[in-house]
Amino acid sequence: MINKMGLTEDIKYVLLSEEQIRARVKELGAQLTEDYRGKNPIFLCVLKGAVNFYADLTRSMGDYMEMDFISISSYGAAQKTSGIVRINKDLDSSITGRHVIIVEDIMDSGLTLNHLTSVLRTREPASLKIVCLLDKPERRECAITPDYVGFVIPNEFVVGYGLDFAGTYRNLPFIGVLKPEVYTEAK
Ligand code: IMP
Ligand code: MG
Repeated sequence: MINKMGLTEDIKYVLLSEEQIRARVKELGAQLTEDYRGKNPIFLCVLKGAVNFYADLTRSMGDYMEMDFISISSYGAAQKTSGIVRINKDLDSSITGRHVIIVEDIMDSGLTLNHLTSVLRTREPASLKIVCLLDKPERRECAITPDYVGFVIPNEFVVGYGLDFAGTYRNLPFIGVLKPEVYTEAK
């Protein structure tokens, strides 16, 4: 159990407001529209964390595109990513010869995306790029960088707009930092 006081009461401070997120996601959408014009790319949503970002980003995309969804989880201890990815739900479509954009919530150690991209590369897409809403470069444990980044953030654990702590807080419309007592008193 985590020591919850109320959805918004659990937040220490808002790191990125709804307005900041909306404005930046529109910019990313405009940039992707230009970069992929005429290429009919597949936007690949990494469930579940990317779901809100994905919904907003794809609606800012002003050219033909397709959607697909993949659900992955990492093996290893609860809080620590091992980087070995298990695919819980694979893509429905073939990505061979297609321009693929992986849409993720956050790049932290980078191990998850490092593994996912190596799995997807074996399917021989025409191109494979990563867009992350958030990037925590201080935490990187392997040589990978997202091709498109919404915001570079400090090394803080954040929730909201798809990001969770123990499955909760994904529905917050902003991105915030949890009060330490929410998780330090967790049993
Ligand atoms: P990585 O393999 O260490 O880059 O881990 C990436 C995954 O860890 C993300 O897709 C998130 O699910 C999770 N994650 C990393 N940092 C945070 C955070 O600050 N809040 C919520 N989830 C996070
Ligand atoms: Mg995730």
